[in-house]
Amino acid sequence: MTGTTATATGPAPRVRLRHHWIVRVTHWVNAVALTLMVGSGLRIFNAYPAFARKGESFCCWPWEHKPIPDALTFGGWLGGARHWHFALMWVLVVNGLIYLAFIYLHGEWRDLVPRRGDARDALEMIKFYLFVRPSHPMQGKHNAMQKTTYFLLPILAIVQVLTGLAIWKPVQLAWITALFGGFVWARYWHFMTMVALIVLSFVHIFMVFAVDPYSIQSIVTGGYREDLSPEARNARPFYHLLPRWRDRAAEEE
Ligand code: HEM
Repeated sequence: MTGTTATATGPAPRVRLRHHWIVRVTHWVNAVALTLMVGSGLRIFNAYPAFARKGESFCCWPWEHKPIPDALTFGGWLGGARHWHFALMWVLVVNGLIYLAFIYLHGEWRDLVPRRGDARDALEMIKFYLFVRPSHPMQGKHNAMQKTTYFLLPILAIVQVLTGLAIWKPVQLAWITALFGGFVWARYWHFMTMVALIVLSFVHIFMVFAVDPYSIQSIVTGGYREDLSPEARNARPFYHLLPRWRDRAAEEE
């Protein structure tokens, strides 16, 4: 999609298609399903809010028998939460498969896979954010840190599904349960993968609002103004967020 509309001050900026509708729809289905999966999962956890079995101890969770606050849970009661969790599991898996199949067949995986030089590029981004280098590093569709996050999220989602299967069917799928160190550890990894997904999602959402809120349009309607990209605005988190700052800076030059 490209578009130009004349304005009083000259030709309107180019808007081009950044995210295909399949990416946009699967993104938002995923965001809603994941939120409800977390809430219902925490409600299920509260039915027995510890990792150690009765009479045993567990090394790696300091809050044994402390339930998660009700406000963070979803589903009302154990049975309700399990219904939601298992129903949404299918939504998340089918949605995830559609997204992965699409980016594979459409070639968009190329924008997300790690490449040699990513560590160096990520370091350059950090230097830029810390004002050590003055100009935004050159980047493709996403900067190196953003790309790594988008690459890690589906991998974590796959681990989340596998650990979920390990604790859902520990008899029929005993080999998966064994792969994660047995039932207690599989339950722990299921929980910790959820924590990692939440942390990365919050970092992702924070960076969207702090660095590139203009990209929200691209994940809703698909359209993106290249002249407002972080690279074009030389944007650090919260810095040069408003395009008029850039115009004012240009006037002053
Ligand atoms: C309120 C919540 C969220 C907002 C506002 C949001 C916003 C965005 C925006 C604006 C983009 C496009 C960035 C760009 O074009 O450079 C994006 C992409 C993406 N988001 Fe989110 N997001 C949210 C939640 C999530 C969650 C919960 C996940 C997964 C756990 C997620 C995973 C992704 C991924 C993987 C992409 C890259 C898609 C691609 O390019 O193929 N987002 N998001």
